[in-house]
Amino acid sequence: MDRLAAMAARYQAPKGTFDVLPAEEAARALVAEHAGRLLDAAGHGRIETPALEETEVFARGVGASTDIVSKEMFSFTDRGGRGLTLRPEGTAPICRAYIEHGMHKDPQPVKLWYAGPFFRAESPQRGRYRQFNQIGAEVIGTDSPLADAELIVLLDELLRGLGIADLELRLGSLGSPEARAAYRDELRDYLREHEAELSDDVRARLDSNPMRAFDSDHEGTRAVIGAAPTMLERLEADDAEHFAAVRALLDAAGVPYRLDPTLVRGLDYYTRTIFSFVCDRLGAQSEIGGGGRYDGLIGQLGGPDTPAIGWAAGTERILLALDEEVAMPGMDLFIAVAEDRQRAKAVALAGELRHAGISVEIDLAGRSIKGQMKQADRVRAARTLILDEGDSARLRDMATGEERRVEPSEVLELIRPG
Ligand code: HAM
Repeated sequence: MDRLAAMAARYQAPKGTFDVLPAEEAARALVAEHAGRLLDAAGHGRIETPALEETEVFARGVGASTDIVSKEMFSFTDRGGRGLTLRPEGTAPICRAYIEHGMHKDPQPVKLWYAGPFFRAESPQRGRYRQFNQIGAEVIGTDSPLADAELIVLLDELLRGLGIADLELRLGSLGSPEARAAYRDELRDYLREHEAELSDDVRARLDSNPMRAFDSDHEGTRAVIGAAPTMLERLEADDAEHFAAVRALLDAAGVPYRLDPTLVRGLDYYTRTIFSFVCDRLGAQSEIGGGGRYDGLIGQLGGPDTPAIGWAAGTERILLALDEEVAMPGMDLFIAVAEDRQRAKAVALAGELRHAGISVEIDLAGRSIKGQMKQADRVRAARTLILDEGDSARLRDMATGEERRVEPSEVLELIRPG
């Protein structure tokens, strides 16, 4: 191993994190552009919140007994003694921002979207990282089932529009907090009757979160939960009506879904509609995106009672599901020089052309003219301008090999896009 390679091996990206190399950026850019276009076109405004929040925002918002808050947060105390956390999700911070900026005074609902990095100290595996990216959308300030349906249709369009196949939409409802609390008691009593058959993990959380049993892949627990009463059977009349309206709207929009009476999500703020887009080809981490209503969250964070709904999709899971090489776009032009004295001219010309919107590379490694032509191929330049000895110039079409004599000053006119 040479010295540089040894140094490279000495330091690695932290566990569960990764570098995105230039060759991988094109696919990410494609996803980001598609999502941005779609959400802008649906009237969502982009919002950016800090990567850090007061720990309390998540403890209160996401729920102290959730896995996210109890074991997966990167939290620390800053030099001023404040408890801070690298954001594990985006909804609680957006609600914090909604309250802080008095957005309840704006016309409702407020429709937002976001994209950026999130952090969870989970054990890493394919599709599960400690730093990952989400694209998310929220509609705050309406309890209309239209908002539920429109958001679900948007996420469906986001994923299908990218060409992700084998997607399944799972849909459920958690009802109101009161009905859920009553149901939770009923479920806890039922699980207690079968305590011996449950996993240690589920048994340990029977008091704080009996719904966790639905998440379990423990065989005994699965058998017990298979015969348990479901929340869908216990919805109150207005929640059942809301859910029926969401389903009718999805039917009308032609978005297929599977009713999943046992659907649970790993965050405590959900009420009423919850949903999850799953792609089984992804293996264990099969959820590409999901979300639901969180009608109590803004009130819980100290704001006015405000119903809201949203979703987030994981960029890395989208990329895994796409599993496609997306080629980096090639350059419009490479400028090659026959003599070193022409390099300054190449730099000046490249600057002028880039200013006019043309992508241009020049040789920065002192290559021979032959080496420069090879480099032009490597960067997939559509054309190469060759500054020959004696100040004459040729423009070469790299696909056909055709060349014509040109004046460097006419290049812009000759290759101007469109
Ligand atoms: P979530 O289900 O926790 O929801 O995360 C949303 C998506 O982020 C998941 O479906 C998955 O694609 C991706 N994801 C989550 N954890 C990881 C990880 N460790 N590695 C890679 N990808 C991951 C939320 O975060 C809610 N804030 C969604 C929401 C918005 N609900 C209402 N509004």
